[in-house]
Amino acid sequence: MATFSLQSHCFFLLVLLLMILNLRHHLALAGGCQYPPVIFNFGDSNSDTGGLVAGLGYSIGLPNGRSFFRRSTGRLSDGRLIIDFLCQSLNTSLLKPYLDSLVGSNFQNGANFAIVGATTLPRYVPFVLNIQLMQFLHFKSRALELASTSDPLREMMISESGFRNALYMIDIGQNDLADSFSKGFSYSRVVKLIPNVISEIKNAIKILYDEGGRKFWVHNTGPLGCLPQKLSMVHSKDFDKHGCLASYNSAAKLFNQGLDHMCHELRTELGDAKIVYVDIYAIKYDLIANSTNYGFEKPLMACCGYGGPPYNYNVNITCGHGGSNGCDEGSRFISWDGIHYTETANAIVAMKVLSMQHSKPPTPFHFFCAG
Ligand SMILES: *[C@@H]1O[C@H](CO)[C@@H](O)[C@H](O)[C@H]1NC(C)=O
Ligand SMILES: *[C@@H]1O[C@H](CO)[C@@H](O)[C@H](O)[C@H]1NC(C)=O
Ligand SMILES: *[C@@H]1O[C@H](CO)[C@@H](O)[C@H](O)[C@H]1NC(C)=O
Repeated sequence: MATFSLQSHCFFLLVLLLMILNLRHHLALAGGCQYPPVIFNFGDSNSDTGGLVAGLGYSIGLPNGRSFFRRSTGRLSDGRLIIDFLCQSLNTSLLKPYLDSLVGSNFQNGANFAIVGATTLPRYVPFVLNIQLMQFLHFKSRALELASTSDPLREMMISESGFRNALYMIDIGQNDLADSFSKGFSYSRVVKLIPNVISEIKNAIKILYDEGGRKFWVHNTGPLGCLPQKLSMVHSKDFDKHGCLASYNSAAKLFNQGLDHMCHELRTELGDAKIVYVDIYAIKYDLIANSTNYGFEKPLMACCGYGGPPYNYNVNITCGHGGSNGCDEGSRFISWDGIHYTETANAIVAMKVLSMQHSKPPTPFHFFCAG
């Protein structure tokens, strides 16, 4: 027993070391940017860096943020999100939420419009994709207006060419699927809605293109059926071979096929745009299917929640709320709170995103450096 745990401990450390070396290798490859690009991001909690908290005053407390920021930043994770690692790989500062009024107008490196819970439909409900787009358009016109005045803030504003050369990132769709399932819609009804979701994302890219944007980075959606929250709340015996909900995952895969196809169409339609599609699903599913190779033991159990195995998720006692428990710091979980990933898992996903193996067309992230 002692030997076994010693061995597994050494194995774990080795894996961790290899991963850190690998991450550093990729970060070194990316090499930072001498002139980092301006980045605008649209999406949901997978990339919300504090928007919900800034926008609605909604409180997200510790233990969220405990392992990197040492305080809650409004991110739903114990630390950094994928987008944070991507920003760091370009040597640019972490993206600030557009709605954060206390950042001193310091949006020089871009802004984050992503908000926890965001969907693409129905339109005009805060903070769906079309509202995030409207907020961006407002931001842009205000920035250009200020840049043309003698306001001292103009130095800090993004110029027309800054907007043109910016990188536009989109990571949305998960909640459209999740919400439809939680309304009790049948699989076929959920699947019928997918084309409308894809068309909202397509529309968003076209609007940004018409505004001068030429660089796009689109994340597909992860394996919804592997989230401890779904697994604990859905009473189904319809599991795939890794213990995830098969119907949820097939809906996610159908969505991803549609998104991939839409990106392909847009590359033809918008000939001079660079549109990179990243297969987050493949990366996350590999992490779950091969979890032990990455040093994770319970890929379907939340680190922070209530109820213990198998999923440690209780809808009434979620992470950060009274009665919930976090796993020990330093223990290795993929799922942080039953819905979102831990910083450790996000770091691995980001490393794989940067590897280009899951990107169409394969494009190094530092391609987007501004000169
Ligand atoms: C990264 O940023 C730091 C601090 O702003 C700067 O000193 C360094 O030269 C940058 N590295 C690269 C590769 O641009
Ligand atoms: C698990 O790892 C093996 C070996 O690297 C790989 O062939 C397989 O595709 C992985 N599984 C998933 C679901 O990605
Ligand atoms: C959550 O609370 C509701 C209402 O009190 C209750 O019906 C339900 O069983 C609870 N769920 C769990 C998983 O404890």
